[in-house]
Amino acid sequence: MSRRRVFILLGPPGAGKGTQAKRIAKQCGVPHLSTGDMMRDAVARGTDLGKIVGPIMQRGELVPDELVMKMVEERLKQPDCAAGCLFDGFPRTLPQAEGLDAIMRRGGFGKPLVVDLAVSNEKLLRRLTGRRTCSVGGEIYNVYDAPPKVDGICDSDGGKLVQRADDRDEVVSQRLAAYEKATKPLAEYYRRQGVLQEVDASASVDEVGRALIGIIQRAEGQ
Ligand code: AP5
Repeated sequence: MSRRRVFILLGPPGAGKGTQAKRIAKQCGVPHLSTGDMMRDAVARGTDLGKIVGPIMQRGELVPDELVMKMVEERLKQPDCAAGCLFDGFPRTLPQAEGLDAIMRRGGFGKPLVVDLAVSNEKLLRRLTGRRTCSVGGEIYNVYDAPPKVDGICDSDGGKLVQRADDRDEVVSQRLAAYEKATKPLAEYYRRQGVLQEVDASASVDEVGRALIGIIQRAEGQ
């Protein structure tokens, strides 16, 4: 990315935001900021934030906006965000989107590029219940569609693959409900700003990746 740019991946739980963000961030040379990963890290380290957000995440509910905004604002001050960043899982509510707009105005960022990843609920359930994540490097697998070469072991670094606590059936339905209520309306918010692109994310990982790279290249060429 040539300018100071914020790139946002919108979409429901399991749409493939994390999978694609890891690929695109590398290609664009900006950090991948996943608010979910940041909070899981806080939970694992037992920080004050982690103690508050852990039980909320376990229930599949959204973490309060003030906590999320404070965490994001601090992260954006780090030098690696000088050229911009790629958000995955943020913003997730209207107040978060408005808060991010204010941060971008203050920080001299250009308009964000927002891509909404659309997938049917049936596929989302398969993706979420089949997901396994490397406990060392965070690589994402799926026991149905993207299995590791050796069962339970990461191809890249040999780390143990684990299932996320919030990928249990009852929590997944709560997460999907939170998405429908609080996050889905953001597509309209960004459409009105003229910065929304949509991608059919039910296609393969490579096809979705190619569509995203095409969108970024066209936006960068403007
Ligand atoms: P977060 O970690 O952000 O989770 P999420 O948004 O629910 O999204 P996921 O990580 O589940 O899915 P994804 O779209 O990244 O899919 P992935 O690439 O892994 O949030 C977790 C919790 O933290 C929230 O519930 C909330 O409590 C809290 N939180 C986080 N941010 C917050 C915020 N801003 N405000 C308030 N609370 C917040 O892929 C899923 C699976 O599908 C994988 O197995 C993958 O291999 C597979 N897959 C991916 N793409 C494809 C494809 N094209 N074809 C086939 N399989 C695919």
